Amino acid sequence: MAGAKDNLFGGTAYQPQGEAYFDDGREIELLHFMYAHPHLNDMRGNPQKVLDAIDEYGKTRKYLMNIGEYKSKTVIDLIREEKPKVIVELGGYVGYSAIAFGAALKNIGGNRYYSLEMNPEFAAVISMLVDLAGLSDIVKVVVGPSSDSLKRLFKEGTLNHIDLLFLDHYKPAYTPDLKTCEELGLVSKGSIYAADNVIKPGNPVYLQYVRSTVQEKRQNYLRIDSSSPRGNPDLIYDSQLIEGWEPSGVPDAIEITRCIGIEA
Ligand SMILES: C[S@@+](CC[C@H](N)C(=O)[O-])C[C@H]1O[C@@H](n2cnc3c(N)ncnc32)[C@H](O)[C@@H]1O
Repeated sequence: MAGAKDNLFGGTAYQPQGEAYFDDGREIELLHFMYAHPHLNDMRGNPQKVLDAIDEYGKTRKYLMNIGEYKSKTVIDLIREEKPKVIVELGGYVGYSAIAFGAALKNIGGNRYYSLEMNPEFAAVISMLVDLAGLSDIVKVVVGPSSDSLKRLFKEGTLNHIDLLFLDHYKPAYTPDLKTCEELGLVSKGSIYAADNVIKPGNPVYLQYVRSTVQEKRQNYLRIDSSSPRGNPDLIYDSQLIEGWEPSGVPDAIEITRCIGIEA
């Protein structure tokens, strides 16, 4: 297989990431690949076969910035164990995580998977592949910048609680978006956050925030200027790093954070 390599993560790796690695037409090319695929009919209503075909494109054609087979297992196990009703993902790209986690949510009888994606072209790809996988009844694609979408969904009464928040968009937006969810009361005791890419490319600001004590957060709260969300420093977090691999075979990790209480 040209360019692909076997790696410690136990699978065949995606094509190397390279300099230009998204938004160069490959997302639409992926759609053509899927709809010209000899196994297209087997994919209809079958999330795993859709994921396999997306992975096939990533391995044989061009790199895709998906969470990939290895790390997605961490989140799927979490969904099976914790049985969330509502999942919100920040950053949908071509729908790999929405299909993998939306299928897991559907299997445990969950209610809704919101995939928040800023790029309307990518959002259209997500919708088509979610539909192909037979998950349109549970996955709702929401187009726009995540901070606006979170506030709008809350204001219109569509979203009032998040059981599992999957953060996988613009790395500097992880902390302000989490703080927006805290301020709106969308997250509370029992909510869980899964933050991807905390090693590659890394997200020290986010890790520091979710690993801080209430006392530390209260001290910093006073220093935050009023133009950015200030969050709710009273939420008590328990956070741990789960190591894994990017689909390109590069080491990475997901930070799993549990809100275990609220300090009075
Ligand atoms: C790493 S990709 C997501 C991969 C996807 N979660 C998966 O594993 O299949 C990041 C995505 O976040 C989107 N994005 C970046 N900033 C965003 C924002 N502020 N709001 C919503 N989406 C954003 C990008 O357009 C891109 O599609």
